[in-house]
Amino acid sequence: MKIDILTVLPELLESPFAHSILKRAKEKKLLEVNVHNLRQWAVNEHGQIDDYQYGGGAGMVMMCEPLAKAIEVLSKEKKFDEIIYMTPDGELFNQKMANQLSLKENMLIICGHYKGIDERIRQQFVTKEISIGDYVLSGGELPAAILVDAIGRIIPGVLNDETSALFDSFQDNLLAPPVYTRPADFREMKVPDVLLSGDPKKVDEWRNEQSLQRTKERRPDLLND
Ligand code: ADE
Repeated sequence: MKIDILTVLPELLESPFAHSILKRAKEKKLLEVNVHNLRQWAVNEHGQIDDYQYGGGAGMVMMCEPLAKAIEVLSKEKKFDEIIYMTPDGELFNQKMANQLSLKENMLIICGHYKGIDERIRQQFVTKEISIGDYVLSGGELPAAILVDAIGRIIPGVLNDETSALFDSFQDNLLAPPVYTRPADFREMKVPDVLLSGDPKKVDEWRNEQSLQRTKERRPDLLND
């Protein structure tokens, strides 16, 4: 999978993909992330990419020209399956969407800033608008990093133990069960006997029950889906 990201703050996106699972995904050539500074398509030598909004009001709007040029230049190199705009008024991101997006070949992610991007770019080029939650961040970079992380780790072949993503929280609309490691007795808090029983069937049953119970208690909304 190839992901291109358009941003005015490329520095913010240097570290998130340089470690752990995503680093491995890149080394295995399963994921390529290219971050582009939108200012290379600025409208003047001052690096301008935003302007005041029509109708008045505080806050700048990211201009059409730099975004359109950037999208057109990058689209010549590869055909994007999705052009995604990160925005708090987009569709709420969840595991199902991550699963669907993990099957795409090429994606372009646009990070907004200030008041957002000119509506005409959304209408003309953007194919999907995604919010990572009902709160407003100062830009789309951290949301983009979250999106790439959630997608990148489930690209087939990225995780060593292929099945482990299947047991993540949300994969069955259920939260994950509790997990334990050594020691079996920590300050008189014991690991549940069933996990030490060596009986995989019983362990599975226990984990399923725990998942269900946890979901009922913490996220009953997931059970209604
Ligand atoms: N940009 C600012 N806030 C955001 C959010 N919650 N989701 C996606 N992009 C954003």
